[in-house]
Amino acid sequence: MRDLTEETSVFVETIIGIPGLKRELKLLHVTDSHFAEADNRDEERIVADAERFRQVYGGRAMEYFQQAIRHSNEWKADCTIFTGDIVQFPSFRNMELMEEQFGQLTSPYLYTLGNHDWLFTHHHPNDELRSSFYPLFNCVTGGNPSYGMIELEGVKLIILDDSNYQVNDAQLQFVRDQLAEGIPTLLFFHIPLYVPTLADKTLEVWRDPIMVNAPGWDPAARDRWGLREADASTQQFHQMLTEGEYPNAAAIFCGHLHFPHRDAFAEGRYQYVTKAGFEGGFRKITLKPL
Ligand SMILES: [Fe+2]
Repeated sequence: MRDLTEETSVFVETIIGIPGLKRELKLLHVTDSHFAEADNRDEERIVADAERFRQVYGGRAMEYFQQAIRHSNEWKADCTIFTGDIVQFPSFRNMELMEEQFGQLTSPYLYTLGNHDWLFTHHHPNDELRSSFYPLFNCVTGGNPSYGMIELEGVKLIILDDSNYQVNDAQLQFVRDQLAEGIPTLLFFHIPLYVPTLADKTLEVWRDPIMVNAPGWDPAARDRWGLREADASTQQFHQMLTEGEYPNAAAIFCGHLHFPHRDAFAEGRYQYVTKAGFEGGFRKITLKPL
């Protein structure tokens, strides 16, 4: 596994060499589009929030999202992976648009939730609330919003919902079982793992260390975000990847922070944070035979 990306394009493009790969694979990574549409099927306050968030996110979120879908088709991506916060909240219209747009893709896609996809503005996040919204997402996750996998040409793409900043026992076991097969594997989830080199920029932009298993949280800030300390399974997940237990874990792709970044999570292997879709961001990932 080797990152072959030219330094000049590192924020928008990633090229990874994979030993033994049969043919080049093209993947498009889209995250944090935050589109906010609602109509009279939702409460008035949701319609008002939708209008407000369209302004907050610059008014072009939907247009950029449609462009990304077209780009995937024109570039002939082998798969498009959406890592959450695609919608600002699960209004009827947002969910309808998301499904409609995914339906335009001419190749397979994977989707997982971000902390916003299942959270209305008037809600405070908790695991029960997320579970209550899961059925809405069955149609875009093959019936399992918690985790999933597809295999393309001998490479596994794993998708995981870590939108509560946690990885539960079932998710940990799933990822472990997949990695144990020894096949080159790419992981996709919304919230990045804490990596020391990502901390400064995260704190500069967000003031709080909004990463999985991050140290240094102020307890009051943690409460405001609706978070708890990392569960044992979350800590084990973090250790499993950052301590290099599975060298076939080739790369991690996430969003949440809205700015692009690249950080080694283990020797020579990287976690890539992709620029937010509402700003026109996406990442082209090319896997090349090595
Ligand atoms: Fe986001």
